[in-house]
Formats: sequence, C-alpha cells, structure tokens
Amino acid sequence: MRITACIFDLDGVIVDTAKYHYLAWKKLTNQLGIHFTEEDNERLKGVSRMASLEIILEIGNIKADENQKHEYATRKNQWYVDYISKMTPDEILPGSLSFIREIRNAGLRVAIGSASRNTPMILERVGISDLFDAVADGNIVKKAKPDPDVFLKAAEMIDTKPERCVVFEDAVAGIQAALNAGMMCIGIGSAEILKQAHFVISGLNEMNLRKLEAFERNEKFL
Ligand code: G6P
Ligand code: MG
Repeated sequence: MRITACIFDLDGVIVDTAKYHYLAWKKLTNQLGIHFTEEDNERLKGVSRMASLEIILEIGNIKADENQKHEYATRKNQWYVDYISKMTPDEILPGSLSFIREIRNAGLRVAIGSASRNTPMILERVGISDLFDAVADGNIVKKAKPDPDVFLKAAEMIDTKPERCVVFEDAVAGIQAALNAGMMCIGIGSAEILKQAHFVISGLNEMNLRKLEAFERNEKFL
C-alpha cells in the first residue's frame, strides 16, 4: 500500500472530550457574564486553548490584558482537567480500538496529532498510551491547526513521508492542516461541514483495513 501510516486527531476522533471542553468553558463564560452556546462551542473544535479563549472573549465583547487571559485560560483548564481526570476506557469512541489494532497488525504505523496539551493525561486515563508509535501534541508543537506543524511532526516521529500518511480529523481547521501537510485526509463527522476532506465517515466504527485500501485506490467504500 502507498499508505503506510495513519495519524489520528484525539478529541472527537478517538474520545469525545468536546462535551468537557464545553462544560469547562461554560463555567468560565457564566462567571464572565458571556452568553455561550453549544453552537458557539463548535467553533472551538481543533482550535488551541488560547485561540479558543480569544473567540469566547470576542463573542462576549470583552477586553482583557495578557495576564487576565492567562488567568482565564488556567481557570478553564483546571475545570477541564477535573472532568478528564475522571474519564474511563468506556469513553473511547466505538470502533477506534479495533481499527487501530487491525492496521497496526498489518504493519502500518500509528500516531496522534492533537492540539491538546492534555493529550498525555487523556491517553493515560482511557488506557491507550501504549497504542501509538508516536504522540505529537500541543506540548511539543507551537503553531496550531490549520498550520500543518502537528501532523508533520507526527510523520517525522514515525519516520514516514507526508504523502504516505492518512489523517483522521473531525475539525475543519484540522482537515486544512492535513491538506497543508500534503497528506490524505478522512473527515469524521458531517460531509457538509468537512467539505475539504478527501472522504467523510461518521466515526472510526465505519473503518477497517479493507476500506482503507479501497480509499487508497480511490474507490467509494461505503
Ligand atoms: C483540541 C480540541 C480543542 C481544544 C484544543 C486544546 O484540538 O478540539 O477544542 O481547545 O485541543 O486543548 P487543551 O487540552 O490544550 O486545552
Ligand atoms: Mg478534534
């Protein structure tokens, strides 16, 4: 196969942490008197912590200096960490483990490419720290998606050329990052929203090795 590696975004692809990000941002926006909805939360998918805060302050039309911003982001992260520290393996999204194990057994390399600086804690809590050959996350990459940095770093860590990697992503910014990295990209979610992806599925439960091979041959597989 031309595809020799798969790179997975974490939040929204392997685990559903968007709800915890939402609850934690909601606590902060309540304290700041900002009206923040689940729809607004969609805009934060794949976006780094500080960039998310900027969007929220813009929604609330609130000005803050760098110290205040740092304090707000820290406050939000403490609530978020409270939630994710209680996560269990049950929260791994359906089909992720079997697909990753199947492609690993077939000799493909697998890596994480996530903006989240909480990636190590989430992997540890849900018990999959050992499942990946490499983890590229917000702790080692500074430029956020749609910049390709995080995926290029992941590819480098598994010693694979970008054109041989397929990225699995649920965020528009993440799909742009994969394309900017010169990688193939399968969107997870709605085809209407993830228009730029090479193919869109609703979740990893729709994937297997045979379908990955069909994707490579450019065939419709669903
Ligand atoms: C992921 C999520 C974003 C989140 C970002 C940073 O990309 O989709 O919603 O803002 O990670 O997460 P962190 O855990 O570092 O605050
Ligand atoms: Mg995501």
